[in-house]
Formats: sequence, C-alpha cells, structure tokens
Amino acid sequence: MKFGVIGAGQMGGGIAQVAAQSGFDVVVQDVKQEFLDRGRAVIEKSLAKLHDKGRLKDAPDVILARMEFTTDLNAFADCDLVVEAIVENEGVKADLFRQLGQIVKPDGILASNTSSIPITALASASGRPERFIGMHFMNPVPLMQLVEVIRGYSTSDETAQFVTETAQQMGKTPLACNDFPGFVSNRILMPMLNEAIQCVMEGVAEPEAIDGIMKLGMNHPMGPLTLADFIGLDTCLAIMEVLHMGLGDDKYRPSPLLRKMVQAGLLGRKSGQGFYTY
Ligand code: CAA
Ligand code: NAD
Repeated sequence: MKFGVIGAGQMGGGIAQVAAQSGFDVVVQDVKQEFLDRGRAVIEKSLAKLHDKGRLKDAPDVILARMEFTTDLNAFADCDLVVEAIVENEGVKADLFRQLGQIVKPDGILASNTSSIPITALASASGRPERFIGMHFMNPVPLMQLVEVIRGYSTSDETAQFVTETAQQMGKTPLACNDFPGFVSNRILMPMLNEAIQCVMEGVAEPEAIDGIMKLGMNHPMGPLTLADFIGLDTCLAIMEVLHMGLGDDKYRPSPLLRKMVQAGLLGRKSGQGFYTY
C-alpha cells in the first residue's frame, strides 16, 4: 500500500510516522523544504524515543527508509490513500482537494484529518465524493489510540471499510460518526477548552490553577490550557468558528481572549508562547 500525507506539521508528521511504522510506503508533502526538514527531525526524535522503549517492530532507519519527503503534489499520483493534514481552513483545503482529485489515480481514496470542517463539502471539491472520508487522528498521533472515521453524504461502504481497516493496521481503534460540525471529539472537547480560556479572561483563576483543578479534580492527563497550547490556539479558534457557524448556538462563540491571542501571534507551543512559555 502506498500512503500519502499532505502537511508535515504535528499531525501530518505523526500520521506519516505511524503509517511507516506499520510497514506502508509513505510520501509526505509540504509547501517548503524547511517544513519537511523540520517534520522529519520531529519524526526521528519520536522514533528514537519509541525504539529506546522497545515499542517499534523495526529499527528507526528501516522505518525512515519507507518515507519519501517532497514538495511535489504529483508524487501522490499512484497513492492508494492520501490523508490531508494542512491548516484548518475550508477554502485552503477545498483548493487542495480540487487539485488532488485531478492528480491521484481514479481508484485512490482521499481523506481529511480536519478537526471540524464538513467532510461533505471537501468531498464535493475533490470530485470523487464516494472515495472521500474523514480520518481524524488525535494528537500526539504516535501515542493516541483513536481515529474518528467520518463519512460524508456520499462516502461509499467500500471507502469506509478500507479506511477502518487501514486505521486498525496502524494499531489504532477507529470509531465511526456522522458529518456534523466538530464531529463528536471536538464538539465536546473544544467548548471545554474555550470555557477554560474564558475563565482566564474573566479572572476566575490563574492558568496554573485552572489546569491543576481539571487535572487533579477530573483526572485529565493535561489541563485544558496546556492542551489548547499543545493543539495550537490558531487551530482551536478555527474549530470554534466552525462550531459557531455550523451549530449557531451562542455556547460555541469563541472566547474574545482566544481571538486576541491568535491575532497577537501567540499560538501556543508551536510559536513558543501561549498560556505558557515554551
Ligand atoms: N512520540 C514518542 N514519544 C512521545 C511523543 C511522541 N510524539 N510525545 C510524548 N512522548 C513521550 C514523552 O517524551 C514521554 O517519554 P518519557 O516517559 O521517556 O519521558 C512519554 O511519551 C510520556 O509523556 P509524558 O511524560 O508527557 O506523560 P503523559 O503520561 O502525560 O503522556 C500524553 C503524554 C499521552 C500526551 C498525555 O499527556 C495525554 O494524553 N494528553 C492529552 C492528549 C489529548 O487530549 N489529545 C487529544 C487532543 S485533541 C485532538 O487531537 C483532536 C483535534 O482535532 C484538536
Ligand atoms: P500544523 O500547523 O502543525 O501543520 C500544518 C502543516 O501543513 C504545516 O507544515 C504547513 O506548512 C502545511 N501546509 C499548509 N498549507 C499547505 C498546503 N497547501 N499544502 C501542503 N502543506 C501545507 O497543523 P496541525 O496541528 O498538524 O493541524 C493540521 C490539521 O490537522 C488541521 O486540519 C487540524 O485541525 C487537524 N488536527 C489538529 C490536531 C492538533 O491537535 N493540532 C489534532 C487533530 C487534527
């Protein structure tokens, strides 16, 4: 199986890594060589860590040899499955899928790792809605068990079955849901993170106390502000916008503090500053 991944950021890199760990030949594409180099360095570090813990079937160099890094979209022409993991913006993703629909072989399946954007809209842009699906991995991909599998309006049974089996071959647990804004995962998670940000804005408590209360009180592995920084505040804002626009209710309105931090370039871990300094 030839597995394509678009975007060498935290999600694309993780998906590509786990696909290569599972024995697939993997092509990773990004818009600039420096983004590919950065993505590869993160993968090498993660593989070294997993190898030290005896959690890899093959040596890191064997896994890396299955991976090709390129800036050329045409490298996806003979892929059986291509998973997109670029910026959470419907227009940008739709443009990309318009191009990919022309490049990838006709029986290739296209998938989006989007956190919230309607799968049906992206499927239409791709020109192959039966062979289009949401394949939503969780961050950090090498450690997290879940893949949320989201069928668009026209996704075929064969496509859903193929992607479900592929997720299982990657050692993940696929769970199905339908195409609603934010699916299940982010419809439930994001309002909690947004509410934690609202608590900071209103001075309910300091960030460390908010995170501590949720970690120690609810047994969450990370506090909500640490998690928002980890996901990326730009991504959190984009998801809240989709929820607010798609579901309408005021409870999905993005916190003004979240919007302001993104405007100021404070994106969390990826920019070095969010609710905490990295
Ligand atoms: N690859 C390999 N190893 C990694 C790694 C990676 N990508 N990331 C972390 N590790 C390692 C750490 O280095 C650490 O190793 P050592 O023990 O050798 O130091 C080990 O894994 C455990 O990490 P931590 O010590 O930080 O301990 P932890 O028990 O907190 O585990 C975690 C880390 C699994 C990330 C845990 O904190 C967690 O589950 N956090 C919540 C993650 C979560 O909610 N993810 C979903 C986000 S939402 C989403 O993904 C959807 C969306 O659309 C936004
Ligand atoms: P990121 O900012 O870490 O990485 C995005 C990568 O895509 C960057 O390397 C960027 O250069 C690249 N890119 C942008 N436009 C491109 C294009 N047109 N062609 C090729 N590459 C392009 O973002 P991320 O956190 O990895 O998120 C990627 C996607 O995954 C988003 O849709 C996000 O909502 C989703 N997602 C994120 C998380 C998370 O926790 N961060 C979890 C699950 C899903």
